[in-house]
Amino acid sequence: MAFHKAHNWLLILFFVLATSVPSMADTDPQILIKFKRSLSNSEALHNWGNDSISMCKWVGILCMKENFHGLTLEGMGLSGVIDVDTLLELSTLRSFSVMNNSFEGSMPDFKRLVGLRKLILSKNKFYGEIHDDAFAGMKNLKGVFLAENGFKGNIPKSLAELPNLLDLDLHGNSFQGRIPEFQTKQHLRFLNLSYNQFEGPIPPKISDRDPSAYAGNKGLCEKPLSPCLTSPPQEASHPYNSYP
Ligand SMILES: *[C@@H]1O[C@H](CO)[C@@H](O)[C@H](O)[C@H]1NC(C)=O
Ligand SMILES: *[C@@H]1O[C@H](CO)[C@@H](O)[C@H](O)[C@H]1NC(C)=O
Ligand SMILES: *[C@@H]1O[C@H](CO)[C@@H](O)[C@H](O)[C@H]1NC(C)=O
Repeated sequence: MAFHKAHNWLLILFFVLATSVPSMADTDPQILIKFKRSLSNSEALHNWGNDSISMCKWVGILCMKENFHGLTLEGMGLSGVIDVDTLLELSTLRSFSVMNNSFEGSMPDFKRLVGLRKLILSKNKFYGEIHDDAFAGMKNLKGVFLAENGFKGNIPKSLAELPNLLDLDLHGNSFQGRIPEFQTKQHLRFLNLSYNQFEGPIPPKISDRDPSAYAGNKGLCEKPLSPCLTSPPQEASHPYNSYP
C-alpha cells in the first residue's frame, strides 16, 4: 500500500514537471507559432516556423538587435482571433499592428500588455463600445491608432488618461459625446478625430490643430472650427415669439 502511494506521488510529480517546465521555457518563435494558430486566413505568414531562417526574417516580425520587438501584420487579409494571452508571453513585445485586415468584433483586451508602446488596429471591422478601463495602466503606450473601424460610444476614460500618449488616430468611426481633456504629459504630436459623431466644444489645449483633424463631426465647435452658439436662438425655444 505504502509503496503504491509513493509510486503514485512520483508519477504525479513527474507529470507536473514534464508538462510545466517546457511550457515555461517556450521561446519567442514557439510562442509566435502558437499565436498564428488562432488566426484565420494566415497564408501570408508562410515562412513562420521555418527553422532555416531566423525568426527576425519571418514575415511581419520586427526585431531590434536580433531581439523580438513587435508585429507588423498589415494588409494580409487576416481574420480570426487575436490571442492576447499568447501575446502576453512575448516579454519584449512593444509594437503591435494589424492595420488593414479583416478582424471583427469588440476590441481585444490589450491592457494586460503593459509594455506596449504602439497599438495599430486601423482599417479593420472592429465595432462596438470600448470599456472605459480598456487602456488602464498602459503607462508606456504612446501611439493608439483605431481609425476606420466601427467603434462607437465615448472616448474611453482610460484612453484620455494615458500619461504618455503622443499619437492618436480615431478618424472614421462612430465615436460620440464630448472630446475629453487629454491627460498626457506631452503635447500630442498627431491627433485625428475626424469623421465621427463628436459634439460640444473642442478643449483649448488641442485647439492649435489643422481643422481637418475635426472635420466631419456635425456637433463640434470652438477653435479651430467656428464658435459654439452660446444659447439657442429665441425663435427656436419660443416659436411663438417669431409671430409678428
Ligand atoms: C525555408 O526557407 C528556405 C530559405 O528561404 C527555403 O529554401 C525553404 O524552402 C523553406 N522551407 C519551407 C518548408 O518552407
Ligand atoms: C489593404 O490590404 C490589401 C490586401 O489585403 C491591399 O491590396 C491593399 O492595397 C491595402 N490597402 C491599403 C490602403 O494599404
Ligand atoms: C484626418 O483624417 C482625414 C480622413 O482621412 C483626412 O482627410 C485629414 O486630412 C486628416 N487630418 C489630419 C490633421 O491628420
